[in-house]
Amino acid sequence: MAMKPLIAANWKMNKDIKEAVSFINKFKNLIKNIKNTEIVICAPFTSLSEIKKLIKTTNIKLGAQNMHFEEKGAFTGEISGLMLKDIVEYVILGHSERRQIFHETDDLINKKIESALKNKLKPILCIGETLQQRNNNKTMKIIKNQLKGCLKNVSNDEMKNIVVAYEPVWAIGTGKNATPEQAEEVHKFIRELLSKMYNETISKNTRIIYGGSMKPNNARELLSMPNINGGLVGGASLDAKSFGEICNT
Ligand code: PGA
Repeated sequence: MAMKPLIAANWKMNKDIKEAVSFINKFKNLIKNIKNTEIVICAPFTSLSEIKKLIKTTNIKLGAQNMHFEEKGAFTGEISGLMLKDIVEYVILGHSERRQIFHETDDLINKKIESALKNKLKPILCIGETLQQRNNNKTMKIIKNQLKGCLKNVSNDEMKNIVVAYEPVWAIGTGKNATPEQAEEVHKFIRELLSKMYNETISKNTRIIYGGSMKPNNARELLSMPNINGGLVGGASLDAKSFGEICNT
């Protein structure tokens, strides 16, 4: 694939401001020579401003991990796309932890995507099946429903700003990654779906990244598959050295 791969860190609910700063100071030196890969750190809201100051002269980009679909109002504890737009470039939406723990539906995620795009943020849309769904041969059906539901009314033009992350739920935080072949099969399916939903060009140009126990020792194999255009890394992104190794893969 000719497109620039994207490797994103999903720190989840980890690192206070001091830890985030110390990570960035170490990490920026480990990846300073990387030019052909886009590197994004999706940090907790509390650290975003501090990190933004530190990455000014680096090749690191910043992302959030969630947002509300409204721009402002009586939504105690929420953060909107309007608030994020001057700080981050990317926002993770539809992560399986949000779907499972916070009961987010494809409809809700679709509203968030709409608001993110309106505010010129680039959504990293996560989709993926559970182990039970995989065992029941429902993987492709789930993927199709999630992709269609979450991208409802997203235009051809807006697709330029969408990254799709395939994250099999059974591989997240379990240390059990999908094999490159298993991941490739679903990535290829997603690309074919995008071609049907949009067109060949959009399908070819959309980055489809893999997430689920990506580590320095399995990143190369996964990233060498033809339809895998990057990674969304949880656990292994918390350590500057191991995330640096994945980015340098
Ligand atoms: P993991 O998390 O790398 O720890 O499996 C990936 C994710 O949840 O995005």
